[in-house]
Amino acid sequence: MKPGGDTPAGQDSRRHAVRSDTGEKRLVVLISGRGSNLSALIEACSKGRIDGKVVRVISNRPRARGLNFARQSRIPYAVVDHGEYPDREGFDRALAEVIEASAPDLIVLAGFMRVLTDAFVAHFAGRMVNIHPSLLPDFRGLDTHARALAAGVEVHGASVHFVTAELDGGPVLMQAPVPVHPDDDPETLAARVRAAEHRLYPAAVGLICSGRIQAVGDKVWCDGIPLERPLLLDEMMENAKRCAGHD
Ligand code: GRF
Repeated sequence: MKPGGDTPAGQDSRRHAVRSDTGEKRLVVLISGRGSNLSALIEACSKGRIDGKVVRVISNRPRARGLNFARQSRIPYAVVDHGEYPDREGFDRALAEVIEASAPDLIVLAGFMRVLTDAFVAHFAGRMVNIHPSLLPDFRGLDTHARALAAGVEVHGASVHFVTAELDGGPVLMQAPVPVHPDDDPETLAARVRAAEHRLYPAAVGLICSGRIQAVGDKVWCDGIPLERPLLLDEMMENAKRCAGHD
């Protein structure tokens, strides 16, 4: 593990803070590449749209571009390079150790391109989420935009789900549908979905941090009631506006 940033790994001043059910939640964000969702989450925290704080960013790739967002925002970061471990179990153990050192309330996978072992997933059950570029359960796995175009769907999008042992199969809490245009190619569609992700992920993480959303077994509960279907981003925004009297 290679620590980085202004506060070296292991010197996080709140490391031993007692977790509580109220107050700012501690987020650890895992990335592998560009980090545009990380950037959206950092901004939402700084603007108070998430009652939380990104306390550490972890990348499995030393040169992940997204680490620059951590540097710019003076957020401690660490690299746990999967290439330095002989097997998945060893990598996941090292990763879990670095995550636990930050005493997170929520682990946020944001373009983290590693398949995690069942033991790792079980250890963080109910407190780890992922964003996936499709309307799950459609198009699990890779190349979702090209596959959506090939299938001829008119609506595509992104989903936020709790992570379980089944790849892209955990309970979905929120989705952002995105229209497919007749002249789309995988890149134009990806860009539209990504723009939606940058609103979706902060909204979903915000609901978890505020305690309104929880994973209970294989179900998502919202405000104490099991969800019949995932929340839709724009529906939630409309409700929030109505509650705030902006109708
Ligand atoms: C996003 O499209 C996300 O849905 C998928 O990986 C991509 C990450 O993009 N899991 P970025 O690194 O956040 O820009």
